[in-house]
Amino acid sequence: MSETPRCRVCDGPLREFIDFGRQPLSNRFPRPYQVEDEYFFTLSAGICESCTMVQLMREVPRDRMFNDEYPYLSSGSEVMREHFTEIAQRFLSTRLNRSDAFAVELGSNDGVMLKTLAEAGVRHLGIEPSESVAERARGRGVQVWTEFFEESTAEAILDAEGHADVVYAANTLCHIPYLHSVLEGIKTLLAPSGVFVFEDPYFADVVRHTAFDQIYDEHYYLFTARSVQAAAARYGLELVDVERLPVHGGEVRYTLAHAGAHTAAPGVAELISEEDALGLSRRETLDAFATKVAAVRDDLVRLLTRLNEQGKRVAAYGATAKSATVANYCGLGPDLVEFVCDTTEAKQGRLTPGSHIPVRPAEAFHTDVPDYALLFAWNHAEEIMAKEQEFRDAGGAWIRYIPDVNVL
Ligand code: SAM
Ligand code: TMP
Ligand code: ZN
Repeated sequence: MSETPRCRVCDGPLREFIDFGRQPLSNRFPRPYQVEDEYFFTLSAGICESCTMVQLMREVPRDRMFNDEYPYLSSGSEVMREHFTEIAQRFLSTRLNRSDAFAVELGSNDGVMLKTLAEAGVRHLGIEPSESVAERARGRGVQVWTEFFEESTAEAILDAEGHADVVYAANTLCHIPYLHSVLEGIKTLLAPSGVFVFEDPYFADVVRHTAFDQIYDEHYYLFTARSVQAAAARYGLELVDVERLPVHGGEVRYTLAHAGAHTAAPGVAELISEEDALGLSRRETLDAFATKVAAVRDDLVRLLTRLNEQGKRVAAYGATAKSATVANYCGLGPDLVEFVCDTTEAKQGRLTPGSHIPVRPAEAFHTDVPDYALLFAWNHAEEIMAKEQEFRDAGGAWIRYIPDVNVL
């Protein structure tokens, strides 16, 4: 654990705006006998007063988070499977339509995106440090190196395969504190007209929706168009396009290219103006966000305590990484939330990090129906609520807490 009182991008001073206290690793689900040796750290976030990049005040060592026990599977949501097939097809029809085209994906996980390129016979490479998920991608015919991407990896890829026409990263760049090394590597790896396309949770949406659980160990950065533009410029790269995405509670897909190689779309300046109008880097905006977060916590604890006193059964839906922040910040344990159901085998039979709520298979939601379901996977609300319509038809109710506490 190293303290990071200064901005990892520009070395400017960081101003802390929220503190969630002691938190566990969000994706390490202990077995009952492992609860004694859980790793904790202090989770707080700050904004750089010089370049506006939002980042954690402390960094968790990467090997603790991403290793051969990493449980998260990208293919766990049907909406996300479609989302990744769609972007793969877009790449195939635009930037990867030459016979020798080459694409690299950082954080390729179980191969949900690259399998479409592999099936189309396109030269590709996934860089994925978590062996548990990399192996699944290989099973789908995807080429993967089990490594953390950084500058030296870019050089090795260049030696082995040459320049990349597309480098893609979904929900991965924001996980990498050593952004300078990654962007140096991208600069080295990209072909002269190549693009680096990445999508991550959007800080403007976090603030707009009080989506405080987007802040956890793995989400080291929370990007805005302004902060990405500033970071790119330090490495001879340029932000040339932005696209708002509805997935995961609100994301932006950014396109970087070599400076001057492409004309920037008007949407870039427009999004930056919107961010300025929201006052995202102003002290008052971030103080108001922190005040709302504390109010959500108080409302949620009050509601769950009341339901418990009334003898109602509450279970949670989706053992998401982001729910680690909610459960630990709000002090939710098995006394208030009986179990959490999740489709991921590697999480089942274990306990939620720090809060120790038992994780059960998805079927438990049907065989042991609770009165209330706390929607930990609120970012997949539409998909889940449609799939579980019977729960409501039978009198069950959903509890949401983003953007505020609501029973529906
Ligand atoms: N791209 C997938 C998606 O959007 O569903 C996976 C996202 S998952 C939240 C983040 C992934 O990034 C993990 O599979 C993790 O192992 C990987 N990762 C973490 N650090 C990395 C690095 N330095 N280079 C490449 N991948 C990394
Ligand atoms: P995510 O929000 O990081 O994508 O994590 C979603 C978690 O929720 C993951 O562990 C899979 C789980 N999940 C279900 O159990 N059922 C579902 O229908 C969906 C969409 C996700
Ligand atoms: Zn900075």
